Amino acid sequence: MSKPKVYITRKIPDKLLHPYMNDIDFRMWEKEGEPVPRDVLLEEVKDADGLISMLSDAIDQELLNHATRLKISANLAVGFDNIDIEAAKEKEVIITNTPDVLTETTADLGFALLMATARRIVEANKYIKNDQWKNWAPYLLAGSDIHHKTIGIVGMGRIGEAIARRARGFGMSVLYHNRSRKHKAEEELQAVYTDFDNLLSEADFVVSVVPLSSETHKMFDASAFKKMKATGIFINISRGATVDEEALFEALKTKQITAAGLDVFVEEPIRKDHPLMTLDNAVCLPHIGSASEETRTAMLELCLENIVSVLNGGKPKTPVE
Ligand code: DGY
Repeated sequence: MSKPKVYITRKIPDKLLHPYMNDIDFRMWEKEGEPVPRDVLLEEVKDADGLISMLSDAIDQELLNHATRLKISANLAVGFDNIDIEAAKEKEVIITNTPDVLTETTADLGFALLMATARRIVEANKYIKNDQWKNWAPYLLAGSDIHHKTIGIVGMGRIGEAIARRARGFGMSVLYHNRSRKHKAEEELQAVYTDFDNLLSEADFVVSVVPLSSETHKMFDASAFKKMKATGIFINISRGATVDEEALFEALKTKQITAAGLDVFVEEPIRKDHPLMTLDNAVCLPHIGSASEETRTAMLELCLENIVSVLNGGKPKTPVE
């Protein structure tokens, strides 16, 4: 009997595959730093039993129609808005994601963006490297305090809670908005549930951690930014499309809000000529929320465990249901 075939859409370290190589025929897109071209992926998926996909790969009806043998597609992310879940269900393809293993790392990055924007770290770094530092001055690159301020977390899932824990360590008050109340977070972290509008107007830092869906699409729009404090800072580590980027640009440019820290964008990779890239009060990162060596390895290992289990007739560890 021939071995099942698993296709991996990006180059990953061979050593992660070694434990499974006797039983599985792995193929992957070998070009470091480049996504697999769509036509190659559509061809490769034809005889694949398993797939490891990235958040930048569209696992849609077209791909699933090509994939006549596919049993599982393991997405290397906790978010799965790149996947047509209904179409996968119809085709009986199991979808898995990578929750838990990336929670703390993604929360770290969210907090790093919060601190970088509040204390103007990127501007300050640019200032000194451009040789602009001639004198010390009382308000030179003065930002805003973080400690004892109010954070408003929109989307109180695992990552939201991990951000709340960090915020409590800084003596911050925590407001949150979520589809349902989170009683454990309320008890353990003194997180206070509030409606979206109140969160926007009360919080010094508004952090988006909501999954992208038809309800959350562009939920941060012109009217949301108008409700924020003029000293408010907006952080997005969820998905770019939760934000109306034109409205955010206007709010930042006109100083309706003070700053934004963004790890995600409507179009990724975002280009240098995008209006947001021209602003000193926007700190922008290339979607690196979970990008630590340890966490990316744990995420890949989890994808492989899901695949091996399903191909051996077992249940996936972390199915998207
Ligand atoms: C995810 O896993 O969805 C994150 O966006 C990755 O950084």
